[in-house]
Amino acid sequence: MEILNKLPEHRYVEVDDFLAFLGVHEDEKRLAAFKKGLSGLSRGGVVVEAGAGLGELSSVILDVIRPRKLYLIEENAIACDVLMERFSEYSNVEVVCSFIEDWEPQEEIDLLVQEFYGPLLYDESLEALNRLKFKPGAIFPNRGFLKYQVIPLESLDEPTVNKRIWEKFGGVLVSDIFWYFEDYKPEGVVLEWYNGKLRHYNVEIDPLKGDVLVFAVEVWHDENKLCDPILCPNWPFVFTPVMGKSFEFDFVYDEGFTEVVFKWY
Ligand SMILES: C[S@@+](CC[C@H](N)C(=O)[O-])C[C@H]1O[C@@H](n2cnc3c(N)ncnc32)[C@H](O)[C@@H]1O
Repeated sequence: MEILNKLPEHRYVEVDDFLAFLGVHEDEKRLAAFKKGLSGLSRGGVVVEAGAGLGELSSVILDVIRPRKLYLIEENAIACDVLMERFSEYSNVEVVCSFIEDWEPQEEIDLLVQEFYGPLLYDESLEALNRLKFKPGAIFPNRGFLKYQVIPLESLDEPTVNKRIWEKFGGVLVSDIFWYFEDYKPEGVVLEWYNGKLRHYNVEIDPLKGDVLVFAVEVWHDENKLCDPILCPNWPFVFTPVMGKSFEFDFVYDEGFTEVVFKWY
C-alpha cells in the first residue's frame, strides 16, 4: 500500500504507520499460534498489551486469559481510535493512546503481551520493552531468534533478477524480493532475544554454498516456537547478496524508531 497524495508530515506518518501494520491483522496463522501460546499461561490478573493495533490479539487475550483488567496501549492515533470504539462496551478494558515506554500504570502488571518482532527480530519495537516505567510479572512472548541460511540464486528459478542484477544489491537487506521462497532450512542463529536481552552470535558462512543470504525471524516463548516466516506469513524472509564470510548487525534506537545497520567484514 502506498499513499499517493501530498499530506502534512504528521498525517503522512500516522497513516503510513497504520497501513504498514494492516497486513499483520490478516495473518490468522499468527493469531492462532499466539492463542495456543497464551493458553499455557495462568488466567486472570492485570494484563497489558503493548501496541494493541486493531485489537485482534486483544480479543484473544480476553477470551483465553480472562484478565480482571486489560490495558491496551497503542501509539498510533488511528489504531487507538479503532480500539476505543471496539472495546467501549468492555468494563475491564482501558485503552491508552501512548508509547508503552511513556506509560506508568497505577497498579502491578502481572503479564505484558507484545508483538514487537520485526523481520530482522530487533528492527521494530522490542527495544521499547527495555525502557518501560514498570516491571511486569511476565512477558509473552519472551524469546525470539534471527536465523540464517545460504542458497544459490539459481535454486530460486527467478525470471528477472539474474546474477548481475543481484550483485548490485550488495550490502542491502531486502524483504519479499523472492516472495515464493519456501525451502526454509536454517543453518544457524545470528541473534537471540530472551527475557529482554539481545545476544549477537558470531557467524561464519560458507560463500561456496550460494550467493543469497536469507534471514528469518522466529518468535518463541521459552522452549516453544510460535512463528517463523513459513508458519506465520506476516514475517517476510529478508535477502541480501553474499559478500564475504562474516557480517554484523547493529540496532540504533532513536525516539521510538529502530534503525538497522548491517556490515560485512
Ligand atoms: C505488529 S502490530 C501488533 C498489533 C497487535 N498487538 C497484534 O498482535 O495483533 C504492532 C503495533 O504496536 C504499535 N506500536 C509499535 N511500537 C509501539 C510502542 N513503542 N508503544 C506503543 N505502541 C507501539 C504499532 O503502532 C502497531 O499498532
